[in-house]
Amino acid sequence: MRPLIAGNWKMHGDMSWVEKPAAFEALMPATERKHLDILICPPSLFIAAMAASCHEANILLGAQNCHRAESGAHTGEVSAAMVKSAGAEFVIVGHSERRAGGETDENVATKAMAASKQGVTPIICVGENLDVREEGRAESVVTDQIKASVPAGVTDYVLAYEPIWAIGTGMTATADDIKAMHAVIRGLVGPKVRILYGGSVKPVNAKKILSTENVNGALIGGASLEMESLAAIARAA
Ligand code: 13P
Repeated sequence: MRPLIAGNWKMHGDMSWVEKPAAFEALMPATERKHLDILICPPSLFIAAMAASCHEANILLGAQNCHRAESGAHTGEVSAAMVKSAGAEFVIVGHSERRAGGETDENVATKAMAASKQGVTPIICVGENLDVREEGRAESVVTDQIKASVPAGVTDYVLAYEPIWAIGTGMTATADDIKAMHAVIRGLVGPKVRILYGGSVKPVNAKKILSTENVNGALIGGASLEMESLAAIARAA
């Protein structure tokens, strides 16, 4: 399956970061990455400004969130249609940092459905916290999240497994744990859905993670902010 190397910039950057796709292209020209997809998800404010620079660098563009409704009185929110019209083809939904703010599986499923209706591919995020992992319930909790967060009838989506305790901590799941979890996820999502691993993916561990069975790419936070480290991870795919 074609790997997807996705950068989630979270709440980082400014308008000067519009130049980053060109910097990436200089480090790793499109001819060297024909076998994989590179995606950048900047803050939604920068999506429209990055559409041209991403297109020129053969980099896909995504949002970090969208609202469930097509339009309406939702101050501060962005709809999937807006994401699409600004030039993005993907949208992250259900990131644990948003779930921590109260987003439920049901909310995530509605957002994924809204995105799908607009032809925007949802990247549906799931992952357990440390207590759940230590209690040995990680697989059942993630299974429940997937069952409730992937909307019925939506087939074009990406599933991102991000153990919460590995995000921004420098800790990663062991290759055996990733392999076991991704096998469970594969059983749920079927053979065609790309399954990403996320949580402290860095150049130093990328090869090991990306060569694990049923890992079809990575969702990268901190290491996606510098194009050198994003390119180094992409080279490992
Ligand atoms: P880090 O790579 O900084 O751990 O973040 C992972 C993440 O949350 C990507 O969505």
